[in-house]
Amino acid sequence: MKIKKAVIPAAGLGTRVLPASKAVPKEMLPIVDKPAIQYIVEEAVASGIEDILIITSRGKTTLEDHFDRSPELESRLLASGKTDLYNQVVDIANLCNIQYLRQKETKGLGHAVYCAKSFVGDEPFAVLYGDDVIIPKEKPATRELCDAFEEFGLGTVGIKPVPLELIHKYCSLDATQLREGIFQVRDMIEKPKPEEVITNYAILGRCVLPAAIFSVLENTKPGAGGEIQLTDAMRVLAQREGMIGVEYSGKRYDMGNKLGVLQAIVEVGLKHPEIGEEFHQYLLELSKSL
Ligand code: UTP
Repeated sequence: MKIKKAVIPAAGLGTRVLPASKAVPKEMLPIVDKPAIQYIVEEAVASGIEDILIITSRGKTTLEDHFDRSPELESRLLASGKTDLYNQVVDIANLCNIQYLRQKETKGLGHAVYCAKSFVGDEPFAVLYGDDVIIPKEKPATRELCDAFEEFGLGTVGIKPVPLELIHKYCSLDATQLREGIFQVRDMIEKPKPEEVITNYAILGRCVLPAAIFSVLENTKPGAGGEIQLTDAMRVLAQREGMIGVEYSGKRYDMGNKLGVLQAIVEVGLKHPEIGEEFHQYLLELSKSL
């Protein structure tokens, strides 16, 4: 079944990037000249998604403004002959059909996804975490997950190995390789204690889920951090029918974490068509004094 809908949870408080995220949503933090959320929407569109629901919260209206038309700015750009910039600005508003829904309390990622129940209906759908930007290498990560969902007919999670000493910050997966980049997932534990670690493979940023996840979420109690964890609900699916892990080919940047923001800016900046070369020279010069 073709996946046409995507949910982007972007309602979190972003405490790890405070004070930047006090008044600016962390999903609006830029990588050079484009906010994180735009990279994510572009990935969804490039993956064949037609309808997107962004889960927002109080103080996040700039997310909606970013994907709206901006008449005053547009006419100023046109009048001053900045046609390229004008086209870029208008294109953002035409990227996709985007709807918004407010999560009234930040009760966790699982709760944010549950808010999308009536938008999703009974179709499978993609979830793109609003603070995880994945720069594609081959196909966009969401497309790689949708391909696996269509092939196996099972919920699919985007996975990567993380350093074993850091796995307690993520979730640990019982993942067995089926072929290159594709794993059978039978269990997962959110924020594992040392004795609970199964492998150093974790879910990072993307999943494609059957609508059955909603009835599971309905009965999911708050877990790690007192929040309703999406992982706890996916664990039920993994144990019940199995899930597929896709080690996506792109590079993920965690925009909810200060180091992740810097890594994204440096690595994307080095390849930027406008300032990449100059930035490269600057970094070479700077590195002499490190
Ligand atoms: P995170 O746990 O990384 O976001 O959730 P957070 O809660 O903002 O992080 P910190 O710990 O306070 O820094 C992953 C994604 O899920 C969204 C976040 O916006 C982020 O994009 N989220 C999280 C929600 O939409 N609602 C929630 O209740 C929690």
